[in-house]
Amino acid sequence: MKRREFLRNSAVAAGVLVFRSSPLSFAQGADAHIEILLDETLGEISPNTYGHFVENLSGVVYDGIWVGEKSKVPNINGIRKDLIDEMRKIKPPIVRFPGGCFADSYDWRDGVGPADKRPRRTNFWHGGEKPAAPDAHRYDPNRFGTNEFVEFCRLISAQPYLAANLRSLPAEQLYRWVEYCNSPAGSTSLADERAAAGFKDPFKVRYWGVGNESWGCGGNFTAQEYAVEYRRFTAWVPSYPGTDPLSFVASGPNDDRWDWTRGFLEEIVKKGPREVMGIYGLALHYYAWNLSRGKTNDWFQGKGDAVNFDATDWYELLQQGDVMESLIKGHWQVMGEFDREHHIKLVVDEWGPWYKDGSGLTPTNQLEQLPTLRDAVFSGLTLDTFNRHPEKVGIGCCAQLINCLNSLYLAHEDKFCVTPVGHTFALYADHQGGQSLRTEFSAPTIHYDRDGKQARFWGLNGSASLRGREIVLTAVNPSVKDPLEAQIAVRGARVNSGAASILAAPDIHARNTFEQPQAIAPRSATVQIQDGTAIFNFPAASVVKLNLQLA
Ligand code: AHR
Repeated sequence: MKRREFLRNSAVAAGVLVFRSSPLSFAQGADAHIEILLDETLGEISPNTYGHFVENLSGVVYDGIWVGEKSKVPNINGIRKDLIDEMRKIKPPIVRFPGGCFADSYDWRDGVGPADKRPRRTNFWHGGEKPAAPDAHRYDPNRFGTNEFVEFCRLISAQPYLAANLRSLPAEQLYRWVEYCNSPAGSTSLADERAAAGFKDPFKVRYWGVGNESWGCGGNFTAQEYAVEYRRFTAWVPSYPGTDPLSFVASGPNDDRWDWTRGFLEEIVKKGPREVMGIYGLALHYYAWNLSRGKTNDWFQGKGDAVNFDATDWYELLQQGDVMESLIKGHWQVMGEFDREHHIKLVVDEWGPWYKDGSGLTPTNQLEQLPTLRDAVFSGLTLDTFNRHPEKVGIGCCAQLINCLNSLYLAHEDKFCVTPVGHTFALYADHQGGQSLRTEFSAPTIHYDRDGKQARFWGLNGSASLRGREIVLTAVNPSVKDPLEAQIAVRGARVNSGAASILAAPDIHARNTFEQPQAIAPRSATVQIQDGTAIFNFPAASVVKLNLQLA
């Protein structure tokens, strides 16, 4: 039995806090304890875990990102400058584009070539656009295509991750899109076309999604049917010198659809066990949307409100966020039935809360919602979950970057603000590329009222990573009212000094708006060091990052 198991088992048996009996002899006064196990590394946290998602959906691209070169809104080559400046601060590793459901209706050829010759097309999302929405949201002008997207990625130093159309284009068009992006200068007609647009050097796009939600908007396939399509689309796609081997991402399950994961892989390996080598990742999509407290599973009836919520709604959303861990573990286990060496990674390329319509700062934007402190805590909890499974999660993309769902940023015309979710990403950026360390949290369980019945949620959780002699510890305190003083010990080292950044507010509904863009922002705090351990007070309803220097 490992020490970790012993601790867990004895805690369960004794019904006490795990670390009361730890040989590290934690101080008796603390409310909570955190133990970071320096010699138990879980693997490197892929920077791509901190990725983003940009869909050509309502105000995401047109207005959010693309304002045009001639706009009075400050821009670099047509791309909103405020967005570029803010994104540079969070070290964005990868951005997925152009969808989402939009991807399976998109012809990449419409978005290249001279801008004034590009066709206008009916956007996949046109049916949901509000009457006052701009024309560009309903009828895609194709002004922001592959070149502009790659330019955006370059400006923010991120890798492009393109999602190919499997539902309504033939496989040949995936080859051609790859050729357009990656064939060396002067080698093909498409490379010449790229050069004529001002992009002589190949884009070197490594990550390619093969359809999106192929069980639904991406073609209504069964898992078996999709597997056959996947093999056909990805067989013999040309690769080019100077570009890393292509990494294909298969359309994966929605939340706990184990049957999709199993059905897809079962079919894939019918051609032989080595077929798994042709899959970099399996996309998992998970949205937290049902705040009905168990009353319904109806997609429309079950949604909650982004800004009007009580303490129970707060905890219910976090409960839903916490499901991510079981999804990662569950799909990983199923994947292992067919891919014993776990060559295939999980790519969680759509995640976040999804509320009912009506809270957006720009009311004409479809699927825009106003993130609050609750969403910042949700996002911290999710990123911590990814950090705890570095060997499983290859890519994560928050849905979506701007003006849609769990936005990091909101923008309209010349107005712009960073949401609490954007601030969480800024706090967590230090984890990218660090070695994830097993970390044990112990804190009193939270009890709350769920329509007359008592419900529970954990009292403190997070993740830690190591880079050199610095540990980055992030955690969320989900309690709406109780701060927690925690003692933090590193097994195998002494803490010399520490610095903290906190995202918290007296009001759990705190959010930023165009009028009050700084209503909630991170602040720094000091960390007390006592006998080689750190003591820190985690405010109620907070996201916290500690940078701990080891002796
Ligand atoms: O993010 C919005 C939509 O949600 C995406 O287009 C789709 O993939 C998912 O259902």
